[in-house]
Amino acid sequence: MTRMTVQVSRFEPDAGVSARLVPYEVEVHEGARVLHALYAIHEQDPTLAYRYCCGSGQCGSCAVRVNGKPGLACMTPVVDGDVIEPLDLPVVRDLVVDLVPRIERIAALIPGDRAELPDRETVDAMKDRCDCVECGSCISVCPAVAVSDFAGPTAMRQLERLQVDPRDAEDRVVQARDDGLFNCTSCHACYEACPKDIRIMGKAIERLRAEANRRGFTLPRHLEVSDLVRTTGRSVVRTETPLFERIDPVIEPYGPVRGEVAFFVGCMYSMRLPQTALDAIEVLRRNGIRVVVPMEQVCCGSPLIRTGQLDQLPRVMTINRKAFAPYPVVMTMCAGCGATLKNDYEDLPFRVMDINEVLTEFGIEPPAHLSVTVTYHDPCHLLRGQGISEQPRAFIRQVADLVEMPARCCGSGGGVKSGKPEVAAALGELRREAIAATGAEQVVTSCPFCEFHIAGHTDLPVRNITSLLLEAYRKKDEKEAAASTPPSN
Ligand code: SF4
Ligand code: SF4
Ligand code: FES
Repeated sequence: MTRMTVQVSRFEPDAGVSARLVPYEVEVHEGARVLHALYAIHEQDPTLAYRYCCGSGQCGSCAVRVNGKPGLACMTPVVDGDVIEPLDLPVVRDLVVDLVPRIERIAALIPGDRAELPDRETVDAMKDRCDCVECGSCISVCPAVAVSDFAGPTAMRQLERLQVDPRDAEDRVVQARDDGLFNCTSCHACYEACPKDIRIMGKAIERLRAEANRRGFTLPRHLEVSDLVRTTGRSVVRTETPLFERIDPVIEPYGPVRGEVAFFVGCMYSMRLPQTALDAIEVLRRNGIRVVVPMEQVCCGSPLIRTGQLDQLPRVMTINRKAFAPYPVVMTMCAGCGATLKNDYEDLPFRVMDINEVLTEFGIEPPAHLSVTVTYHDPCHLLRGQGISEQPRAFIRQVADLVEMPARCCGSGGGVKSGKPEVAAALGELRREAIAATGAEQVVTSCPFCEFHIAGHTDLPVRNITSLLLEAYRKKDEKEAAASTPPSN
């Protein structure tokens, strides 16, 4: 048996006081789960309210937050110091949340007059979407649920599963559209939280959006984006002289060549934020990395995939595949492009690396330290789409003081900024509050969509991580120049 102390959130709605964390010392067996600790606490204090049923990951009733992350209490190992709180939903008492309004929005199968059983292939195709145990974890982390009338990730999962089920008689695509299908920012927080690993964005929402597209329900602003890709190869209009008109196709480093990357620039850095891409190129040159920029490259296709407009996808994928085929390492600096190349393109003949991975792998010349406190915004498509979180933080710590804020979607992804601007703005305002709470002087991130959107929701400078590094290199150069200049008499 092991003794440990865990903290549990206690809240009595009628007591008129806020929820508080209470420490409990418990004795549990080796390999115990959070639910075992809750049993032990309940023996000491029978007033603790928590929910469970199967004890084996099958019913979903025991979901709580452990150290801030949703999980099933019966499946999550308990360790000394754990903080156990309810899901981030309206609390009934202690660890029990009110899931009823959310469960009520999960559709039930409505059989038609001539209902047929699904064939084997259909059963296999929808199997993973049937694994849901209705634990509510995905709902509790969904940014779109937090700021809009979106029915929620698992409601969308169910609608997609019913949409392919031949027994069901309802129009689930219309229902999904009316229940907020286009409010999802494609942040993947639901997948990260799901104990059953259901990829709701890719397996349900993007499929429902593709079906909505076939039915003519695509939002007008999303149709404009698709038209832009068709006519210009880019998903945004130019507001600056594009990067491709400012640079040579091969940019040599300063000093010996330590490596080479082919740069997949992306629409935002090409057409709207070319100076940021130029800053990144300077940092790469300074660190001995040759940058090759294939000029034939076009939009990666992410705005098309996320909004369900798949007709041009094979064309843009073919162009990009061909443009980059000669190069062993393709570098992205847009989190959305990187996640799309890594996760949506199949069998690429090259390795795709985000710029944070490139600089980490090659190692960078030490920069100067800037006297500034910054906070870092994790782009969803970098954090959850590519698993990159520590690398940018390591660079920031070399040049600035870093204060953390909770990782949360800024609201710009999934076509939400263009198609549902009110949802994007509401999420941007939540970022404003989180940024202000850190007391930081600047915001640093590593995705053009986040940079652009957050800049509209804070008064602080919003910088790309490579721009911060470049400033630190310039400061280093100034210091060295000053140190080598003889004092004048
Ligand atoms: S991807 Fe993000 S916004 Fe979309 S349903 Fe999942 S949690 Fe909600
Ligand atoms: S989709 Fe996953 S996280 Fe959401 S309710 Fe179902 S099991 Fe829980
Ligand atoms: S008690 Fe049923 S899933 Fe945990």
